[in-house]
Amino acid sequence: MMTIFKVLFIILIIFFIQIFYKWLKYFYIIKKIPKSSLKISFKTLWELAGGDTKKLFDKFVKNLDSDGLKRVHFGPFLFINVASPEDLQLILNSKCCLPKDHPTNNFLKVPQGLLSCSIDKWYLHRKIMNPYFGLQYLHTIIPIMNRKVKSLMENLNKMEGKGEFNIFNDLSLLAIDNILTAMDLDLDVQKNKEKYSEIFLKNFKICNEVVIERHVKFWLHPEFIFNQTNLNEKITNAVSEISKETTLKIMQQIRENQKNSNTFVQALMDPKNNLTDEEIHDEICTIILTATDTSAVTASSVILLLAMHKEIQNKVFNELKQVLGNSTEKLTLDMEMLNKLNYLEMVIKETLRLMPIGVSPVKVNKEEIISSEGYVIPAESTLLLSVYAIHRSKTIWGENANEFEPERFSNERFKKIHPYAFIPFLKGPRMCIGWRYSMILIKTLLANILLKYEIDTNLKFHELEFETCPILKVCQGYLVSIKERK
Ligand code: HEM
Repeated sequence: MMTIFKVLFIILIIFFIQIFYKWLKYFYIIKKIPKSSLKISFKTLWELAGGDTKKLFDKFVKNLDSDGLKRVHFGPFLFINVASPEDLQLILNSKCCLPKDHPTNNFLKVPQGLLSCSIDKWYLHRKIMNPYFGLQYLHTIIPIMNRKVKSLMENLNKMEGKGEFNIFNDLSLLAIDNILTAMDLDLDVQKNKEKYSEIFLKNFKICNEVVIERHVKFWLHPEFIFNQTNLNEKITNAVSEISKETTLKIMQQIRENQKNSNTFVQALMDPKNNLTDEEIHDEICTIILTATDTSAVTASSVILLLAMHKEIQNKVFNELKQVLGNSTEKLTLDMEMLNKLNYLEMVIKETLRLMPIGVSPVKVNKEEIISSEGYVIPAESTLLLSVYAIHRSKTIWGENANEFEPERFSNERFKKIHPYAFIPFLKGPRMCIGWRYSMILIKTLLANILLKYEIDTNLKFHELEFETCPILKVCQGYLVSIKERK
């Protein structure tokens, strides 16, 4: 009996020595990477766990290094902050960074969707879905966008001359109305604003609140602990309320052959692809959840920035008038017209540079990587891709990096910038699948709004405050007033 205990004891000791050795080796390698001047102490970490999303931005995101590779201590956690375009290019195209098994990737609780599924499933799902987010297919849904933007304009008309209001809610309803209709479920969300605000906006808000609370309360990261809390019930109920009104109906109508649809859902449900119901369900939910706030926040930000920069707003208006004529009454945009709106595109890009919704996405490298400066990044490191910081780097964008200047996206000036210095949708194989879709939708809605209305705000550009919840938002709200142009 004693000998069995002795053997077990020795095995245990060897096991711990191995872990300790691996840990020492990891720290020996990682110590060579320069240390960031930003350090989040245990005390600050505890304060951040209170869930103040503005503080999270001010204390952490805003102060992340905007150059090279740095070690950042975040309480007991160690991150590697990546803020050089060369390293971002390396990481975003490296096979060993493709899997997304960091716990934060599954906070939305749709485990079988693109955002968080296993890497073999991701390859298959993305291959099936990619064609439906390509230009050729998107051509076919521009008529839906035109129709849905008309409903938006009807709702906005009611706000004309009524003083400042937060335009974000109307744009969220447009975003959800459009993505559902593109999946062949036309609920006329915007025409039934009251009912659907209650179902969608309320539940999206709950999802965001739970996700951010889980982000900052690091002890809730492990699934088995989180599942014991009432937050789990809260987010599961919110996702299932959204799903009951949308995903389940979309799947049912295809199954009952009510619609001969040509959408990515139909493709996912094709028996030859062999996907389970849970996988199809989570993919549809992922698209609904990722398509809404992202496009609505970006479009709201463009409108707010234009309200603050009247000269630039007038330049956009002149371009619109030149390409589309004077009236929005019978305006129907097509791809050719959208492609001619170059200045508007520069304005959207400049907004995404200053206010990228994903401020510092997280990746974990499955294998060792050698950085562009020759540092070794050991396998299983947590990498923070410092998008916000690199977008505002003075070394890259010049002394006026914090100013709103769309001209920096003119072909001549932008070709001098490293392509990985501007990555609002990230880049590489895991780049946002919906980036073209959202650019087309945002251009279509902006063209209509800016041609018809002059936008104003009392907010000042340099007084804007940001919060990460979990995407970057303006704390004050997107408060604008609209007045019809004469
Ligand atoms: C302006 C609007 C948008 C921005 C700025 C944006 C940005 C991003 C970013 C930064 C990521 C990478 C996240 C990460 O790896 O942590 C991402 C991924 C993703 N986005 Fe978007 N997005 C936008 C709109 C959309 C829309 C409209 C859709 C759907 C129609 C969408 C669907 C997705 C999906 C499914 C992923 C995961 C892709 C994968 O891992 O294969 N996004 N997006």
